[in-house]
Amino acid sequence: MKQIIIITGAGKGIGRAIALDFAKAAGTKKGFEPILVLASRTLSDLEAVSAECRSFGAEADVIETDIADMAQADRLVSTTLERYGTIDCLVNNAGVGRFKALSELTEEDYEYTMATNLKGTFFLTQRVFPVMEAKRSGHIFFITSIAAETAFKSSSIYSMSKFGQKGLVEAMRLYAKTCNVRITNVMPGAVYTPMWGEVPEAMQCVMMRPDDISGPIVNAYFLPGRTSVEELVIRPVCGDINE
Ligand SMILES: NC(=O)c1ccc[n+]([C@@H]2O[C@H](COP(=O)([O-])OP(=O)(O)OC[C@H]3O[C@@H](n4cnc5c(N)ncnc54)[C@H](OP(=O)(O)O)[C@@H]3O)[C@@H](O)[C@H]2O)c1
Repeated sequence: MKQIIIITGAGKGIGRAIALDFAKAAGTKKGFEPILVLASRTLSDLEAVSAECRSFGAEADVIETDIADMAQADRLVSTTLERYGTIDCLVNNAGVGRFKALSELTEEDYEYTMATNLKGTFFLTQRVFPVMEAKRSGHIFFITSIAAETAFKSSSIYSMSKFGQKGLVEAMRLYAKTCNVRITNVMPGAVYTPMWGEVPEAMQCVMMRPDDISGPIVNAYFLPGRTSVEELVIRPVCGDINE
């Protein structure tokens, strides 16, 4: 049976790895026929990931979307429903971070971070949830962060947004548990992705890689529907690498 999986921020980093791991499972897991709906703001990234997914035998579609823009988030949901009729899984992965000392952060940094991490994630979830509620099945992943529970000096606004996402996770659990929808909060530590920009080699060596995160996510999706992995906390073996 076809399973419709929306992945936001699928063009790079962790989101790309999640898309590829779902695509690989299409070739190995009997009966798993995903249609991967890949969303981000950069069409060329999405087209490249979509081609990789198809090379593993999965169907993939791309919908260029800025989740911070309500009209575009609405269009992601309505277009998916028009094309495929339902949504089985939403991976709320799209996120941004501006990492600076407290005194250097600007109002624009604040608005930019909150627009994607909080507003975008909230309204997309709000639009998708009724589809799952009505059919009494579905799975929503939130890629928050260990910064949803622990503050770091260089990430005050980012941490505020991630603590906020954790609030949304907890609120969604209250709704989801009444209608058989699974909610998984994924809290990674440092993962080497484009989000970090230039990273010194010594630091790269201790950081995790995107498929260290995507593997457990796809495994959580494949557990029996009666079972919900509520949290995945995944850190570099040396622990947190920044303050
Ligand atoms: N890397 C880490 O160490 C780490 C650790 C814990 C949690 N996380 C979280 O994991 C998620 C993915 O991070 P990453 O490290 O993979 O980041 P990344 O490499 O920068 O990739 C982020 C993806 O999200 C997309 N995106 C950003 N803003 C968007 C928006 N408004 N609408 C749609 N797509 C948007 C980006 O594409 P466009 O720019 O083309 O839109 C890109 O495809 C984020 O939520 C991040 O906070 C990361």
